[in-house]
This record gives sequence, structure tokens and C-alpha cells, in this order.
Amino acid sequence: MSDWTTVCPVDELPPGTHRVVDVDGAQVAVFNIEGQFYAIEDVCTHDGGILTGGPVEGDQIVCPRHGARFCIRTGAALTPPAFEATASFPVRVEQGGIQVRDDRWD
Ligand code: FES
Repeated sequence: MSDWTTVCPVDELPPGTHRVVDVDGAQVAVFNIEGQFYAIEDVCTHDGGILTGGPVEGDQIVCPRHGARFCIRTGAALTPPAFEATASFPVRVEQGGIQVRDDRWD
């Protein structure tokens, strides 16, 4: 089972913001959506673009390359040209710090 990776203190990721961390080689984007933390892989399943250059609209992020939308809460692809979900990861708060874990290989 992989270890938890600390992202940052809770107060450094206020609602409406996100940051990207390296989790065992995977680029993981951690978002604060209305006080809840969510993490998805920072990769568009259409053509491998980096998602975090695109706008965040509510709980969705729009890929800056060709405009596919993904649900930040689940990683689901919501609009073409992406059809497969991007990975989503568990997030927890431990002693005031946000932590994320890549559980795909457990
Ligand atoms: S790489 Fe994201 S929509 Fe094409």
C-alpha cells in the first residue's frame, strides 16, 4: 500500500484554489471545492494534456488543449473529446495537513 503524500497545510489551499503535487511520479492536482478536498490526476485522457492550465468552473475543469470537461469530484469525463475518466485519489486531512495517496497499485 502506498504512503500518503503531504500536499500543504489546510490554510494554504483555500476554497477555489488547487495545487499540483508529485505522488510517486504521478502529477496529482488537489482542489478545494467549497471546503472539500478532491484529487485527480493532472492528465487529460483525450491526448495526455495537462489539465491544470485550464479554467475551473464549479466542480469541473476544462482541458486547455481541446476543451474536454472533467468532474473534479470523481475524475469523470463529462464532454468530448475525452471519454475516459482521469484517475481520482483519496484525500485526507491529518494534523492540519492535506494528504493524498495514489491507491491505483494497492
Ligand atoms: S488533450 Fe485534453 S481535450 Fe485534448
